[in-house]
Amino acid sequence: MKTVLVLNGPNLNLLGTREPQVYGSTTLADLEALCRRRCEARGFALDFRQSNHEGVLVDAIHEAGQRQAAGTLAGVVLNAGAYTHTSIALHDAVKGTGVVMIEVHLSNVHAREAFRHHSFLSPVAAGVIVGLGAEGYALAIDALAARVAAA
Ligand code: DQA
Repeated sequence: MKTVLVLNGPNLNLLGTREPQVYGSTTLADLEALCRRRCEARGFALDFRQSNHEGVLVDAIHEAGQRQAAGTLAGVVLNAGAYTHTSIALHDAVKGTGVVMIEVHLSNVHAREAFRHHSFLSPVAAGVIVGLGAEGYALAIDALAARVAAA
């Protein structure tokens, strides 16, 4: 059974209380439960993580790259939070490992402040899902299932 790594970046631990008008009332635990259900439905194991630290996220992507190369990982669903808009290190980690990564954002970043319009991750993503809330994570898992089935 392949694993999906769902990797969440800074401040996503605050979901549920953080700017509810933007992010809604869904907590990180709710998101994990949703991802777990969808992974079970698609025959995947789930590895769900959150970190506020850029280097920890880089290390997780390196580990994911090794698991992908070994054939035990379907890919990474990455919501890097604000690091999306700043992190060349995360861009390089995805590019350098060749991991299959789907970029997800709960909010529609393109309808928000201009500084959220640029992503360092989109050029190295297999796909991008924005603005669909928690459902975006489930759709990203579906997309990884479709890739695995097609391979
Ligand atoms: C976010 C959008 C980012 O701009 C922001 O910094 C976040 C969350 C989203 O899921 O909508 O932390 O990635």
